[in-house]
Amino acid sequence: MKRSHKCNELDTSHVGQNVRLIGWVQSIRDHGGLLFVDLRDREGITQIVFDPKLEKFRDVHSLRDESVIEVGGTVTRRPLETVNPRLATGEVEVLADELTIHNLCEPLPFPMEDSKAEQVSEDLRLTYRYLDLRRKNSYHRLFLRHIAARTARNYLDENGFLEVEVPYLFKTTPEGAREFLVPSRLNPGCAYALAQSPQQYKQMLMVAGIERYYSLARCFRDEDLRADRQPEFTQIDLEMSFIDREDIYALVEGMLARIWKNTLGVDLKTPFLRMPFRDAMNDYGSDKPDMRFPMRIHDFTDAFRSSAFKVFAQSVADGGVVKAFNAKGLAILSQGEMKQLEDAARAMGAKGLAFIKAEDGQWKSPILKFLSEAEKGCLRSELGVEEGDILFFAAGKWENSCNILGRVRLECRDIAVKYGLLSIPNNAFNFLWVVDFPLMTFDGERNRYVATHHPFTAPVPEDLPILASHPHAVRGQHYDIVLNGMELGGGSIRIHRFDVQEKVLKDILKIDGDVVDSRFGYMLRAFKYGAPPHGGIALGLDRIGAIICGTSSIRDVLAFPKTQKGQDLMCQSPSIPTEKQWCDLFIKSTAVQHGKD
Ligand code: AMO
Ligand code: AMP
Repeated sequence: MKRSHKCNELDTSHVGQNVRLIGWVQSIRDHGGLLFVDLRDREGITQIVFDPKLEKFRDVHSLRDESVIEVGGTVTRRPLETVNPRLATGEVEVLADELTIHNLCEPLPFPMEDSKAEQVSEDLRLTYRYLDLRRKNSYHRLFLRHIAARTARNYLDENGFLEVEVPYLFKTTPEGAREFLVPSRLNPGCAYALAQSPQQYKQMLMVAGIERYYSLARCFRDEDLRADRQPEFTQIDLEMSFIDREDIYALVEGMLARIWKNTLGVDLKTPFLRMPFRDAMNDYGSDKPDMRFPMRIHDFTDAFRSSAFKVFAQSVADGGVVKAFNAKGLAILSQGEMKQLEDAARAMGAKGLAFIKAEDGQWKSPILKFLSEAEKGCLRSELGVEEGDILFFAAGKWENSCNILGRVRLECRDIAVKYGLLSIPNNAFNFLWVVDFPLMTFDGERNRYVATHHPFTAPVPEDLPILASHPHAVRGQHYDIVLNGMELGGGSIRIHRFDVQEKVLKDILKIDGDVVDSRFGYMLRAFKYGAPPHGGIALGLDRIGAIICGTSSIRDVLAFPKTQKGQDLMCQSPSIPTEKQWCDLFIKSTAVQHGKD
């Protein structure tokens, strides 16, 4: 069962040789008398010719696509008119004298050609994921991801990083994303949490003197899933001692440049652009702006301070803002698309979405009658309004208004692309560091501050004196790396001093003293035993893979992804454990009992 060649290897230099190939039947063509089989393995395709009149090939008609066969035969030159220039092996074929059928394939649940398979429902493909992965496109994606991961490993190794594995079974911590709990059989009533990230362990490795750590870490978060979110995903996770933000920027830029070079052959321009969080929000309405197209948001708070349009004037009087952007050329929006934009705005908490169209040589809008000539003039000049444009407005609290227009801006991008008004090249990679995030964000629901990134992020040193008095104004030493509207990674310089960490947890984030002691006590203790200044970052490998592969869903670059409902359709997980299993864990499942009722 050993092959002499792979299916991409044979050419005219092998003519006359006896060879042995193994692979999958890609297609069968019956050409009156002779049967042609395209045999495929991971590397390529070779055409095999069978003479079905021979007794030893009497089974060959029973072959079906995707069966696994082994073929012995002689390499022959194809007649000139049958040469296939699209195939590496297109000048030759193998005249079979031996056939072993290793596995006869059942009729397929969906067609295997990429173009057809990709039209089939994703659920069906995920149920037969082993077939879906056998496709050329799927294999290519896994291959590119592999190159990306290998490049990261080699790069970090060259830069003195030690790969250290840390536990997945961690302890439950408040503050982060929702966790998966793992009940402990040996400790009745107790549970581990699956690590959301190696954050605390990697900081402990810095206290342990490792200086430079990395791992390709699996992380687990019980979040609502989306195209760019899976319940388990992989981070290129790293942490370094004795460094500042600039060191992280340079290191990560070097790593991403190498990954882009090795996977796509693209030379990235470094250093990447940097943008303070406030500018990103003000100009693009997002902390992960897509910089590949303009439609920048402008501020008109001053212009509408004493406007006759009460919605705007009142927002300003209440301490809010008025913002707008020009969706160039989109006055042609259909009713349906207008509704889509309005729904998007409402989903972000907007009460409405005021607009002005420049159409048929005039401005049209329900709000036009309230606007003064000065206000219109200001809009016209600031936003460069021309025939065919449409302006969208948001008035209200700063962050809400930014987020609303940011969302509408992205919808406008997609519509503009659809109408051919905007073209975004495949190879536009507009990397960006978003910096100077607020250390804390006020959480109205919990009526207290929460860490914008996580509670271990260090404040910008100049802002330390106002930590207690003006927590909202304190900037964190946090940075996000953003690409084309997607957050690829995030990290920070950490707090390494016991007193500062304790103050942040207890006084600023107002986490109960007992909770701090039980959840973070070990960390505070470690910071009393010689903790070095340190910082790090984690990049989402799945997201990097998806962008490199030009796909919008990270499911495409995971071998066995989960659906929106967190299910693995192939092996049907999650599933219901037996009563005994629950018992062993000291758990009584109410869900199972409901099911029995
Ligand atoms: P953060 O939570 O920002 O930081 O995560 C870092 C990166 O991980 C990726 N990511 C995800 N990818 C797929 N599915 C998910 N559900 C998911 N959640 C996050 C993103 C994100 O940018 N410990 C810190 C890092 C640090 O401070 O060093 C952390 O985990 O690409
Ligand atoms: P109203 O006077 O409430 O009917 O609002 C007039 C127009 O302004 C409508 O088109 C609303 O959709 C829109 N609008 C209302 N509130 C806001 C807001 N906060 N920001 C932007 N547009 C708004």
